[in-house]
Amino acid sequence: MSGRRSSQWYAGDGRNAYLHRAWMRRGIPSDAFDGRPQIAIANTASDLTPCNAHLDEVAQAVKNGIYEAGGIPLNLPVVSLGETLVRPTAMLWRNMAAMATEEMLRANPIDGVVLLGGCDKTIPSLLMAAASVDIPAVVIPGGPMLNGTFRGAPLGCGTDVWKLSEEVRAGAMSERLFRSSESSMIRSRGHCNTMGTASTMALVAEALGTTLPGIAGTPAPDSRLLEASHATGRLAVEMVAEGRTPSRLLTRASFHNAIVTLAAIGGSTNAVVHLLAIAGRLGIDLTLDDFDRIGAEVPLLVNLQPAGKYLMEDFFRAGGLHAVLDQVRDLLDPTARTVTGRPLVDHLDDPRIWDADVIATRDAPLKDDAGIAVLRGNLAPTGAIIKPAAATPELLRHRGRAVVFESVEDMRERIDDPDLDVDADSVLVLRGCGPKGYPGMPEVANLPLPRKLLEQGVRDMVRICDGRMSGTAYGTVVLHVTPEAAAGGPLALVEDGDEILLDVPARRIELLVPDDELAARTVPAATSAAFAAPTRGWERLYVDHVGQADRGADLDFLVGSSGSAVARESH
Ligand code: FES
Repeated sequence: MSGRRSSQWYAGDGRNAYLHRAWMRRGIPSDAFDGRPQIAIANTASDLTPCNAHLDEVAQAVKNGIYEAGGIPLNLPVVSLGETLVRPTAMLWRNMAAMATEEMLRANPIDGVVLLGGCDKTIPSLLMAAASVDIPAVVIPGGPMLNGTFRGAPLGCGTDVWKLSEEVRAGAMSERLFRSSESSMIRSRGHCNTMGTASTMALVAEALGTTLPGIAGTPAPDSRLLEASHATGRLAVEMVAEGRTPSRLLTRASFHNAIVTLAAIGGSTNAVVHLLAIAGRLGIDLTLDDFDRIGAEVPLLVNLQPAGKYLMEDFFRAGGLHAVLDQVRDLLDPTARTVTGRPLVDHLDDPRIWDADVIATRDAPLKDDAGIAVLRGNLAPTGAIIKPAAATPELLRHRGRAVVFESVEDMRERIDDPDLDVDADSVLVLRGCGPKGYPGMPEVANLPLPRKLLEQGVRDMVRICDGRMSGTAYGTVVLHVTPEAAAGGPLALVEDGDEILLDVPARRIELLVPDDELAARTVPAATSAAFAAPTRGWERLYVDHVGQADRGADLDFLVGSSGSAVARESH
């Protein structure tokens, strides 16, 4: 009997081993159960996750590589989350997907896993699951779609939806024209082609060391994705032989490199909450302050939407992730290893920048400080974040009167009311959007600007929310406010007209209300009435156990690793 995990099911002459082998045969070679590595392909392909719909073809390439290296590939469909479709928000289901995948990896006779993801929550949930089971695991990011174009100009999915819809609301574009842009936007298989959450998590997964080096950012229709997927299949077999588990590979140094990368690429704020959750599964004490501290000295090098101009196809053509990492090589931790067993920095073989307008050099960065700023103060005692690179510089120090919305529905109902007491200096506050309050922490923090201000030419305002923001969005948005309003955070106490101070250089976010007055306030009935109170199912479990964004918004009983052991036989 080999020392493989799967041998606990397949080795020996007993009745159970017979059952396990016999039911799995079905054309599989007779030596398949003699210690050959059993590699699951955790596949998030789904027609309802259009960004991942092509992953069955990727899985076939992985299978070929696994067979070629002597392993046995096993397709394992897992929970898939289509960002644009699932209600009320895909983030509500991230932890459920992670939990379901974790349990199926543990419950089955597998020695390693190849994780096929793409759309926003899929790579985070797969990595959280693999980290908790702690078997050799390697990610294949499904890749971005090709550039879209509309009326002769590039059209970035996500980001340009925000821009075009604001144009419609401002009366500068007709509904008919807006609608006609739909089919120009999604031009091929693959996930969003801006530097949104999917692109960010693919690049960050490689920087963490969890992918075949060089694969992240390969467009979904590019044949090199299949070539790299084949190679990943072979690599998975090698990883099992070498015992390269997440707990052996992923260290603080790995997360350091992920944070440097996140800043240099101008990645999505959602990566913060996902990286915190993945680190939590590994017992690595990553904090919000690590993002501010490590990211602070990193320059912005990538000129991609939403903050910049280009799209992922351009990024790949311009040299891709390795060209970026080469520019910040001195900021990377050379001790962090990858799934190959070698350090990340060892894989940067002569990378080049082929288009300096897309990927800037270190000497001429797009911005000096690209990191995510962590704000604290009496409005966010345990932290909130802002992405200064996506904000209006003049608003990074701002003082204004609060205009408060109790919920997304309240905001939608009143935001365009001509009588809304708001001006360009106002601070828009949206609460009830945290993990517990909504529930699920939706991407609504970049709430739309009031129509009457849009018509006056206003294009950005300070916005504050306990929810998240789409990685494809932009603006001066303070988000992930913790504790959230529904968890007793002071955000619940803000009243219309209260003065709020935002000072990003000083990392402050303050409600300028005297302490004694604030202490005397209670949460208004209308505020608490807007918080979710689910009575059954996953939502109930989630609301009862979800943590706050500053710790990754994981469920309290899922933090940490449980390993791969299952105490009992299958009966
Ligand atoms: Fe899937 Fe954007 S909707 S990545």
